Amino acid sequence: MKKILSGVQPSGVIHLGNYLGALRQHIEMQKNFECYLFIADLHALTTVKDAELMRKYTYELAVSYLALGLDPQKTIFFKQSDVQQHAELCWIFDCITKMPYLERAHAWKDAKEKGNKETSVGLFNYPILQAADILLYSPDLVPVGKDQKQHIEMSRDIAQNFNQIFGETFKIPEPFIKEEVATVLGTDGQKMSKSYKNTIDIFAEENVLKKQVMSIVTDSTPIEEPKDPEKCNVYNIYKLIADKEETKELAQKYKKGGFGYGDAKKLLLNKILEQFKEARENYKNIYPKKDYVYGILEEGGKKAKKIAEAKLIEVKKKIGYL
Ligand code: TRP
Repeated sequence: MKKILSGVQPSGVIHLGNYLGALRQHIEMQKNFECYLFIADLHALTTVKDAELMRKYTYELAVSYLALGLDPQKTIFFKQSDVQQHAELCWIFDCITKMPYLERAHAWKDAKEKGNKETSVGLFNYPILQAADILLYSPDLVPVGKDQKQHIEMSRDIAQNFNQIFGETFKIPEPFIKEEVATVLGTDGQKMSKSYKNTIDIFAEENVLKKQVMSIVTDSTPIEEPKDPEKCNVYNIYKLIADKEETKELAQKYKKGGFGYGDAKKLLLNKILEQFKEARENYKNIYPKKDYVYGILEEGGKKAKKIAEAKLIEVKKKIGYL
């Protein structure tokens, strides 16, 4: 069975974009792959600098995965900070990676272009930690969103670089990117992201969810007139969660006229509530069970650590520490 590994940062409330871009895929893949999935809380420290929030986002991410069907018997589910080998291998990679190479990273360049002059060393180093995350576990595939493509390429480069210097040690990972879910647009038509405050939060209370859906920006075409579905954000979000038949039906309603954006939003809201009905109930049930949730992460951490530890010993021998 092929092995996959992925990580998700605990950096905010879980929204539809996270679900379609990452969570759904990870949960589907546990049927056919040996799965490793971790909460990237070391990476999250580049943005989350509040202990309460770090705990809350980490916990909510764990509950979200479990509510959506992550099976801890099938997936080794853990917290990155529980396995210190990630940080240790990161340092080793730091010493074989050149500064100008890292300066080419998109995330870093973007941060600088946004006028963020005082970015942290951690943010600069982000791709190296990600390489350590991946290479410790020798996965065949790394399922990620399109925005992570460069990070996976860097992990491959770092693996090759290490192998060249110290001898064959790391397996070269392949990215696994589903193109069709590349970008999920938010309620304002920009990429769905908590930093734009344009998210649809799948586990939020119904009234909050309703408010978010109703706030989707549309143009001012009057109800009677036919509309172009592809240009409408409500339709574009609907398309991502409804099946082909339902999507076709909605497109026809748009084209016929006499159907307003308000009607479309109601349909979308109902679709979300229907689609996530079970997950939302699970979420409510699991949330209070702190021992259960933390217990799963702890167990997962122990299993992950065994693998990471063995790999790091191999690395230390190659370097001459052992
Ligand atoms: N950088 C990834 C993101 O923001 C999260 C991540 C950290 C990750 N380490 C990883 C993803 C290792 C895949 C593999 O989405």
